[in-house]
Amino acid sequence: MNTPLIDPFHRAINYLRISVTDRCDFRCVYCMSEAMQFLPKKQLLTLEELDRMCSTFVRLGVEKLRITGGEPLVRRDIMSFFQSMSRHLENGKLKELTLTTNGSQLHRFADQLYAAGVRRINISLDTLDEEKFARVTRWGRLPQVMRGIEAAQNAGLRVKINTVALKGFNEDELFLLTEWCARRDMDLTFIEVMPMGDLEGEDRIGQYWPLTELRAKLAQQYTLSDLDERSGGPARYVKLVESGQKIGFITPLTHNFCESCNRVRLTCTGELYMCLGQEGKADLRMPLRDHPSNDKPLEMAIRQAIGRKPKGHDFDYSRQEIAGQMSRHMSHTGG
Ligand code: 5AD
Ligand code: SF4
Repeated sequence: MNTPLIDPFHRAINYLRISVTDRCDFRCVYCMSEAMQFLPKKQLLTLEELDRMCSTFVRLGVEKLRITGGEPLVRRDIMSFFQSMSRHLENGKLKELTLTTNGSQLHRFADQLYAAGVRRINISLDTLDEEKFARVTRWGRLPQVMRGIEAAQNAGLRVKINTVALKGFNEDELFLLTEWCARRDMDLTFIEVMPMGDLEGEDRIGQYWPLTELRAKLAQQYTLSDLDERSGGPARYVKLVESGQKIGFITPLTHNFCESCNRVRLTCTGELYMCLGQEGKADLRMPLRDHPSNDKPLEMAIRQAIGRKPKGHDFDYSRQEIAGQMSRHMSHTGG
């Protein structure tokens, strides 16, 4: 039973992303509606259950954990979860513990994250303009996030900025953002806006700006040199020869890198999604809760689920309508 997790397409699954809450203190227009209904607390995995779940995945060969949300740092007492995961780093089974955050709470937690063994974090930031930031996040305030970014860097965390490319919104900040990250020695990744959740009638901010266009614009001022490295995910990286900085592109729509996918996603209620862009899921909460002192049923459920991991997603913007649109919000499966 100690064989690693291999899916039907011979991909080794060694990366788990865990959404620890569906809640967030922001309401980004492309992610949530203003009046989001959140899950009742009792449906959530407790922190102890999250620990057991993650520890089981680590035992089955997961080497990288990324904590996501919603906004993971708004979950009460989440630091105790990070602290308990650090034991897997110490014994070497887990190679990396990371976090994706909106940055709003980092000024409170950066030091504790570092102490728990976190070394790299992703921070979402779509604009450097205060007014635009308030518009796109609805509830977020830029100075607070700036303070968080500073705290993270001071704590010794390596920061990558994630920017959703939004036509007519941050097109004009491409070079500003790039230079701003270079000055602070932060990597920068652009993300194509994905059709998640039913946000119809929402702000028109969420417009698709193909990264092929963004890349071409970047190439007007920089020499782009392709980097081979892959994180097993959909990101591709280039180096800007002039500044030496690394820029990532996450292009679920214009390119499809599912063939090298190494990851699965766990929601805060214990559903395992085998692919971000497919409805297929497995309930892991039941085998976990029904057998409080026996991990075997959970292990079996995980193996069965991995055995059903689909080949890839079906997002497609190439026709007028959006095909392969997902009914669930990003905050449900985690970004
Ligand atoms: N399309 C692309 N990126 C999204 N994110 C949230 N919703 C979407 C979407 N519909 C991003 C956030 C953050 C990461 C967690 O996912 O901006 O960078
Ligand atoms: Fe919150 Fe991130 Fe969604 Fe914005 S994109 S509402 S910060 S979970």
